Amino acid sequence: MIGVFDSGFGGLTILRDLRKALPQYDYLYLGDNARAPYGSRSFETIYRYTLQAVRELFARGCPLVILACNTASAKALRSIQQQVLPVEFPDRRVLGIVRPTAEEIGKFSKTGHIGIFGTSGTVSSGSYLLEIEHFYPELKVTQHACPMWVPLVEYGERGTEGAKFFVKKDVDALLAADPDIDTVLLACTHYPLLKDEILAALPPHVRLVFQGDIVAGKTVDYLERHPEMEVRLSKNGKCSFLTTDTAKFFEKGAFLFGMSDISAESLTF
Ligand code: DGL
Repeated sequence: MIGVFDSGFGGLTILRDLRKALPQYDYLYLGDNARAPYGSRSFETIYRYTLQAVRELFARGCPLVILACNTASAKALRSIQQQVLPVEFPDRRVLGIVRPTAEEIGKFSKTGHIGIFGTSGTVSSGSYLLEIEHFYPELKVTQHACPMWVPLVEYGERGTEGAKFFVKKDVDALLAADPDIDTVLLACTHYPLLKDEILAALPPHVRLVFQGDIVAGKTVDYLERHPEMEVRLSKNGKCSFLTTDTAKFFEKGAFLFGMSDISAESLTF
């Protein structure tokens, strides 16, 4: 199976696009719902939680794990790839979603000015700045943290006046910081669910970029370039769900993310 990890429900938006692009594979999704959100947690804590999840997905038969969470990708991926895999799991791979997004984002902008919305953890990690600088050194990148947006989604506030107010406030703050921005990246898995509010607040000439499509396309590339990994993945088109909260909590919450009729298994670390 392909393991897909997120702090909670948000990675379901990435899973949806992965399954669209690569429907033949089996997926095992793990949401650390009992400890979400990760957005404002320390580097050490996010690393520890993410590593536990990766070990669990490896133990359950995933040779490849995708960290479908920007905060975990920004804060834990590099240490896992550099310190843990070579020593303990030399034949397994963990991929994140920051780098693949950074590789593509420069292609969307004409002015060379882009904006990024993310959690406080993703923004303060500086991961996007670092990765984008690597591929597009000339790009001017302005980041803005939106700590209200994840709770707005999780508490079912989409479409309300409150959601519109907070989204507009953050969009205005980003564009005030750099009025030449013509491309905005949603670098948090929850934010696509606020698409309507974000599009309503953005001027029409600003392009909104979603990560799920990019990550799915890059995963297709990855599997083409790594046939030795591809042959190890089972192909029955199935998807299973694990959560650190109760199965009932997950099944109910996943509905907000467009997943109905799923059954989850609860686990404790
Ligand atoms: N999944 C997280 C991300 O993409 C958002 C939710 C959280 O803060 O845990 O950054």
